[in-house]
Order: sequence, then structure tokens, then C-alpha cells
Amino acid sequence: VRELVYFVAPSLDGRIASPTGDVAAFPSSGDHIDWIAREYPDTLPKVVLDALGISADGSRFDTALMGWRTYAAGLAVGVDDPYPHLRQIVFSRSAREMPAGIEPVREDPVGRVRALKKERGTPIWLCGGGGLAGALLGEIDRLVLKVNPVLLGAGVPMIDAPYDPGDFALVSSTTYESGVVVSEYVRR
Ligand SMILES: NC(=O)c1ccc[n+]([C@@H]2O[C@H](COP(=O)([O-])OP(=O)(O)OC[C@H]3O[C@@H](n4cnc5c(N)ncnc54)[C@H](OP(=O)(O)O)[C@@H]3O)[C@@H](O)[C@H]2O)c1
Repeated sequence: VRELVYFVAPSLDGRIASPTGDVAAFPSSGDHIDWIAREYPDTLPKVVLDALGISADGSRFDTALMGWRTYAAGLAVGVDDPYPHLRQIVFSRSAREMPAGIEPVREDPVGRVRALKKERGTPIWLCGGGGLAGALLGEIDRLVLKVNPVLLGAGVPMIDAPYDPGDFALVSSTTYESGVVVSEYVRR
């Protein structure tokens, strides 16, 4: 079965956005961005790929899972098809209008993810946010944390879930001159 990977950028205090949902406090340039462009272009929105003059082919991740609020953050800036190079699944309990390239899912994310894991393909990217990650806590096989050198004090938690400890082994940790530390963990 393929893995569910939570590839996400938290602050030092484990928050992935401000209380109003923006990520303005996080550095948007620097050598960690060069690394993402090189190794994880699949996780960059098309607007960013185009701006960088690069492409993505789904070889790292072929599917992105988004909670409604993460998807809606793109809508707010006029982007309704953020990752056209990926299969895009958006979870919402409401019947919401979504364009042709987006697969809306109202059912339990755990059941859908277990089915997706059995399909052939590259690993599944849990894009976020914290609400969806909380629902999928027990299904996360791997974490790639791009920890920003910023304290937010308040904001959207990386994982919004009840207490439920799980052990992970450190695979690698890389520090960037930007101050971002990327650490990868796999579930024990
Ligand atoms: N820094 C980063 O790397 C990063 C990554 C991703 C996102 N973000 C930020 O995180 C924020 C969004 O995170 P969030 O935690 O507020 O929201 P979220 O997880 O993106 O979305 C929450 C919504 O997903 C749906 N959902 C959640 N659990 C579900 C379940 N069990 N079954 C069905 N649907 C479910 C619900 O939609 P309905 O209300 O429609 O039912 C819920 O309101 C945004 O500001 C975004 O920019 C940051």
C-alpha cells in the first residue's frame, strides 16, 4: 500500500497559519524554497510553478488531499484549480460547488484514504489543513515538516485532534540558511 505523507510548513509552535488563515509570517523565499522546487515541485501550486518556470509531473505525489478551508484559501485569491498536475480531493461535509478538476468528498476521510492507499500510484500528499489532518491522524504514515523560524502564538494548529500519541522515527533533518529546518519522520 502507498503512504499518506503530511508535507506541511508549521511555525516553531506548531501552527500552519495565522488565526485568520494567512501564512504571511513565513519566509516565502530562501534556500528551502529552492529545495522544494527541486525535490517537491508536485507540492507547488501551478501559479508558483509557472512563476519559477518549472513543471511538476506527479512523481513525488500524484494525489493531494485538502480540507475545505485549505482549498478555500486558494479561492480567496482566485485559484480554483491549484494543483492541476495532481488528482485533487477536497473534503467537506457540505455539498459545495467545485470545478471539474476537483473531486469533492463528503464521506469519512479515513475510509476514503484507506481505499486510496490500496490504489496504485506514488504516495498521497496530505496537503492540510489541521482539521483534515486531525481527522486523518491515525492514517499518517510519514511527516515532512518544514519548520519555519517563527513563533505565531496563535493560529491554525498543524493537527487539530484529541490526544492520541503516536511514535515516529526520524529519517532525516536538514537545516537551511533561511532558518527553516526540514525534518522527515516515518511511523514506527
Ligand atoms: N503552512 C502550511 O503548510 C499549510 C498547509 C495547508 C493549509 N494551511 C492553512 O491552514 C488553514 C486551513 O486549515 P484548517 O485546519 O482551518 O482547515 P482544513 O483542515 O483545511 O479544512 C477544514 C474543513 O475540512 C472539512 N473536513 C474536516 N474534517 C472532515 C471530516 N472528518 N469529514 C469531512 N470533511 C471534513 C470540513 O469542511 P466543511 O466545513 O465544508 O464541512 C472542515 O471545515 C488555511 O489557512 C491554510 O492556508 C497551511
